[in-house]
Amino acid sequence: MINVTRSADLSTRNTFRMKVRCAALVEISSEEDLLQADFASLPQPLMVMGGGSNLLFRGDFPGTVLHVGIKGVEEKEISPGDAVYFRVGAGEVFDEFCAFAAAKGLWGPENLSLIPGEVGASAVQNIGAYGVEAKDIIHSIRAWDTQEKCFVDIQGADCAYGYRASNFKTAWKGRYIITYVTYRLWTTPHPILDYGGLRKSIPECATLTPGLLRDTIIGIRRKKLPDPEETGSAGSFFCNPVISQEHFARIVETARKDNGPEYEVPHYEVGDMIKVPAAWMIEQCGFKGQRLGGAQVYQNQPLVIVNASGHATPDEIIGLENKIIDTIRTKYGITLHPEVEHI
Ligand code: EPU
Repeated sequence: MINVTRSADLSTRNTFRMKVRCAALVEISSEEDLLQADFASLPQPLMVMGGGSNLLFRGDFPGTVLHVGIKGVEEKEISPGDAVYFRVGAGEVFDEFCAFAAAKGLWGPENLSLIPGEVGASAVQNIGAYGVEAKDIIHSIRAWDTQEKCFVDIQGADCAYGYRASNFKTAWKGRYIITYVTYRLWTTPHPILDYGGLRKSIPECATLTPGLLRDTIIGIRRKKLPDPEETGSAGSFFCNPVISQEHFARIVETARKDNGPEYEVPHYEVGDMIKVPAAWMIEQCGFKGQRLGGAQVYQNQPLVIVNASGHATPDEIIGLENKIIDTIRTKYGITLHPEVEHI
């Protein structure tokens, strides 16, 4: 079914809850709809939106927003062994697929539990948490190629996946409309427990199951991150920067001047580079809980900017963003990049 709404309200379709509109909103629920919709007669440009959980609208959108609401989870025979494959509609809620997998005792997406957003976006953004990224379970992607005017199957390995990065965000931007993602899950145990405090959150004698890991991750996320039902946000606002060892040594020096000679700066090694949590820098610069109008740096996880009043404007969010970027650039010589896409 194709549904076209002119001058549509997007405030309930972006998790930041910005009160913005688009010139037209098109909803489709099948690949046939995609072929039949007459996009050329609708306001341009066209943008594809999933659950709206990683976007910040700077104002009303002058073009057409397309929501691919294709549903369905279908098991696929691809190759024998301990892998099981599911082709999932781009419009399915990603966490519902995580719940489905955990209920079946299948391994793969459990560490990604409770990440907001839809299946199509998981393949664009390479969502990640607790040592797992979507790319680890993406086998292939089916999409409409707007250049060649045909449906294509793209292998996950060809998407140039990196930290919150993929060809869909760069070289292929605007080219493909994702309709299905095929995920590869495992029937045998594949627990990933080494990120942050995950291992110590699991009782030592517990039998590891995807369900237990899912529940543990949900517990951790609920403590740290705002409840999307109550407070608007787009999850992590910035990417964690990856810097050289020399640069990191200078940051340690600054941090020890501020916090004492024994102070340990949190970090992760990424090859011969160092990833420093942006949350740590934001906290060190005194931004926790800081407000600008209705926008606020979240107290429990300062990587998240929230719409605290429920009426924050895009300018207030961006004002706070710029203040954080400028302060961190001056103090640590690092330019933070937003993870949230600005429209
Ligand atoms: N930290 C502080 N102060 C704080 C909070 C955190 O100093 O108030 C430091 C701590 O050292 C902590 C470190 O930051 O160990 C990392 O914090 P956390 O484990 O919460 O993860 P993160 O790096 O801030 C990333 C993802 C999250 C994901 C978590 C867990 C990005 C941009 N964000 O955050 O993803 O849930 O790891 O894997 O990589 C999202 O993308 O929306 C998201 C929530």
